[in-house]
Amino acid sequence: LTVHVDQPQFEISPTMYGIFFEDINFAADGGIYAELVKNRSFEFDRPLMGWQREDRAGGAGATLVENEQAIRPDNPRYLTVTVDATDGAYVLRNEGFRGMGIKAEETYDFSVLARNATGDLNLAIALTDTSGQVIGRSEVPLDAAGADYSAVTASLTADRTDARARLELIFTGRGTVELDMISLFPRHTWKDRPGGLRKDLVSLLDSLEPGFVRFPGGCIVEGRDLANRYQWKKTVGDVEDRKLIVNRWNTEFNYPRNAPDYYQSYGLGFYEYFLLSEDLGAEPLPILNCGMACQFNTGEVVAMDELDPYIQDALDLIEFANGDATTRWGKLRAEMGHPEPFGMEYLGVGNEQWGPEYVERYQAFTDVLRAEHPEITLVTTVGPFPDGDRFDYLWGELNKLDPQVVDEHYYRPPEWFLANAGRYDDYDRNGPAIFAGEYAAHGPSDDRPESRNNWLSALTEAAFMTGLERNGDVVRLTSYAPLMAHLDAWQWRPDLIWFDNLDVGPTPNYHVQRLFSNNAGTHGIPALANGAPLTGQDSLYASAVLDTIAGTVIVKMVNAGGQPAPLSVRLPGKTATTKANLTVLRSNGIMDYNTVGTPSIRPKTEQINPVGQGTKLTLPPQSVTVLTVTLE
Ligand code: AHR
Repeated sequence: LTVHVDQPQFEISPTMYGIFFEDINFAADGGIYAELVKNRSFEFDRPLMGWQREDRAGGAGATLVENEQAIRPDNPRYLTVTVDATDGAYVLRNEGFRGMGIKAEETYDFSVLARNATGDLNLAIALTDTSGQVIGRSEVPLDAAGADYSAVTASLTADRTDARARLELIFTGRGTVELDMISLFPRHTWKDRPGGLRKDLVSLLDSLEPGFVRFPGGCIVEGRDLANRYQWKKTVGDVEDRKLIVNRWNTEFNYPRNAPDYYQSYGLGFYEYFLLSEDLGAEPLPILNCGMACQFNTGEVVAMDELDPYIQDALDLIEFANGDATTRWGKLRAEMGHPEPFGMEYLGVGNEQWGPEYVERYQAFTDVLRAEHPEITLVTTVGPFPDGDRFDYLWGELNKLDPQVVDEHYYRPPEWFLANAGRYDDYDRNGPAIFAGEYAAHGPSDDRPESRNNWLSALTEAAFMTGLERNGDVVRLTSYAPLMAHLDAWQWRPDLIWFDNLDVGPTPNYHVQRLFSNNAGTHGIPALANGAPLTGQDSLYASAVLDTIAGTVIVKMVNAGGQPAPLSVRLPGKTATTKANLTVLRSNGIMDYNTVGTPSIRPKTEQINPVGQGTKLTLPPQSVTVLTVTLE
């Protein structure tokens, strides 16, 4: 393999390897958003879903869900608790998201909005483990609860670890109180922000060094119907005023697995997504609803003469992200804690739409956005059907509108990924940039969810990614999808990161993404065998980049075959250097996968002997190899 270090062909886009976040598989509520209480504001369709009541040892009580729609339209329900428990106790128990993951020695911060406390009422909170034993307890001072809501807080430290703990609200005495927003967070979140994100999950994202974060989805952008579409304005401001909606991935609508209780609290909303992008050093890439509900569900579309509010949402989002604090939406961002603009440069119009109805709406958006915000790069979709008639139709129609970035999606078998390593070799170099916005190899497997993320899928994605990288002049953004899945609450698989209430499980696919992303380089360079790129000859695939900042050349090689492959890597014109690393990712069994908590498939790096005119390597069977040579 001859790597032409002296022939940089194009700059690798800093957004080349990014992440696609969607609230699917409990990725947000029950996942990265560290809130432990499910249905904290009683706004689920069944207002007490997730809650159980119990009269304990002589105590008695009752709850009443009341609704003050006229006063608080976005969070109208609250709970009136009436207690007569001078002897025993009246208990309200929250089950969490498939239980609560509680860690020994960790401190948990409880808060509740309380008002109108009457009588002589006491409240304590307790965490109980799977067997009902108390693993942490604290008193909650209710006496401050006057006529208006005030936040009442308490904290406790757990003395044991449990993956399926429960939170108990233990009332004693006699009286009533009105409660809303009953909440429990671990003290230690990502960057220790109160009400923040799960540190272990964000750390995994951070390690990917993503170039962008696409959010908030996925089909949830579209919603099952237009009433339940994702509306960013309802996800910013105080959390208690964010209007909860049913999640598009709730059992009722599609993929009937594990999710009768799937709602979007929007505790993780657009402000938090922008902040996350900033934390990760990534470009924010929001996708907005374009006036179309999910075409796999109702397929409802807004009438063209009623599209303006949708376009206005896009204009206002640009102001929220980039406007100064004198503008209406920029002011809100500043009040939320970020006076500086977020510097948004990309905006997606529609998620995964198709047909003439999309083209029409996309054009209406672009007419306005291009005129008013030429500085924003717009992303268009070409639907979920790569290479079919609908795909060709959309490409044809959109090309007439001079699109800037086109988002292609492919969930296909492993063989497709091998066969498509040259997919972009013949794309029009004067056409729009490509965003490979959702892809994953969907292979055969058994019923264990993580098994879908087997080594075969990761290996074939790696082969395909050498093609993305080799075509980095046209491919500007790429992201695997979906990003995350809760082992007990998933709807779709495979997924890049599996987790449960306590642990995380980076998949082999995660490691492939990380190898490419951490070694993205700055310039694409030719890596040729017998004068041609390796796109599957003898089951070998390769791409190479130069990193002018680190002073390295990085060669990625995939051997998808079952035999070891000898390969000599030449860097013509370069003499031997003393520093070279070889990283190999492989597994003994092609159907092996990583389990949550004890992931065994991970890359191994070693320093190798001086290289230069000819480094002789043997690529192990079914392996991904990254060679990094420091140039002198
Ligand atoms: O990633 C899962 C789903 O796949 C996304 O929500 C949608 O965009 C695609 O169909």
